Amino acid sequence: LPTQYCISVFHFSLSTHKQIKFIMSQAFTESVKTSLGPNATPRAKKLIASLVQHVHDFARENHLTTEDWLWGVDFINRIGQMSDSRRNEGILVCDIIGLETLVDALTNESEQSNHTSSAILGPFYLPDSPVYPNGGSIVQKAIPTDVKCFVRGKVTDTEGKPLGGAQLEVWQCNSAGFYSQQADHDGPEFNLRGTFITDDEGNYSFECLRPTLYPIPYDGPAGDLLKIMDRHPNRPSHIHWRVSHPGYHTLITQIYDAECPYTNNDSVYAVKDDIIVHFEKVDNKDKDLVGKVEYKLDYDISLATESSIQEARAAAKARQDAEIKL
Ligand code: DHB
Ligand code: FE
Repeated sequence: LPTQYCISVFHFSLSTHKQIKFIMSQAFTESVKTSLGPNATPRAKKLIASLVQHVHDFARENHLTTEDWLWGVDFINRIGQMSDSRRNEGILVCDIIGLETLVDALTNESEQSNHTSSAILGPFYLPDSPVYPNGGSIVQKAIPTDVKCFVRGKVTDTEGKPLGGAQLEVWQCNSAGFYSQQADHDGPEFNLRGTFITDDEGNYSFECLRPTLYPIPYDGPAGDLLKIMDRHPNRPSHIHWRVSHPGYHTLITQIYDAECPYTNNDSVYAVKDDIIVHFEKVDNKDKDLVGKVEYKLDYDISLATESSIQEARAAAKARQDAEIKL
C-alpha cells in the first residue's frame, strides 16, 4: 500500500501499543512527509517535508507534552494578536533567535567581499518615504534630546565606478527610541525617513540624527522570550539603509556607531565589522556644517551586481545539495 494509507490501515492491524510506537518513530514522520497530494508544487513538497522532519524531531528530542505544545501555540497566537500595520511581532521574535540574520546571510551570500555587507531589514521599514534633494533633512520634527548629524558619500560598484541614479532609502528612530510608526513617536508619519537619489558622480548627502541605542519593543511575546533567554532587549545605535540601482543587488543594511556599548552585543545579532562607523564631531573647519549639525559621517557604499549574487547563491546551493548526497 502507498505510505499515505498506512495511518488509517494500522488502526485495524496494530495493537494500541504498537500504534504509539509507530507514531513515535521516524516511520510516522515519513508517512506525514509523503502524504502531500499530487498538486503540491515541488518547492512545497520539499519545504513541508523538511519542516515536518525538524518539527517532529524537535518534539521527540524534547519529549514535548500537550501542556508544552499548548504553551507554544499560545505564544504563536499572541504574536499574531500583537501585530498590526504598526507592529510586526513576528519579525521581532524571529530576530531574537537569529533567524532573520541567518536568512539575510543566505539571501546575500556572494563570493565578492568588496561590496558593502547587508544586515537585517528589521520590523520598521516603510516604503514610499518622501523624496528629498541631496543635502535635505529627514528630520521633520526633532525632540530636545535629538542630536543632528550630516551623512555624505558615494555609491559605487565593487570596482569603484560611481553609480548615478541610485536610490537610497534611510530610516532611523528618534533619541527616545521610537520609529515614526510607533505609538510613542512624537512626530509626523514619515519623520526620520527619506529617499535620496545619487547624482552623476554617485554622490548623496542628507541630514539625520546621530543614532541612539534603544530597546526593541519588549512588552509582548518577544519580550517574554528575551526574559526566558535571560537576554537584554537593546539594539546598538544604528541607521537603516535600502540602496537600489538597476542591475545591482538591492542592499538592505544598517550602520552601527563604533562608540555604542551595544555594537558588540546586539539583541538581534545583526552587526558586521565592515558596517561599524565613526561619527565625527563637526568643527570650525567644516564651514558648511558648523552651527547646523553636531556630527558628520563620510560613508561610501558599494553594490554587488545582481548576477554575482545569483551565481554565488546557485553555487552555495549546489555545494549543499552535494553534501546532502554524500
Ligand atoms: C529589530 C531591528 C531593528 O532595526 C529595530 O530597530 C528594532 C528591532 C529587530 O531585529 O527585531
Ligand atoms: Fe532599527
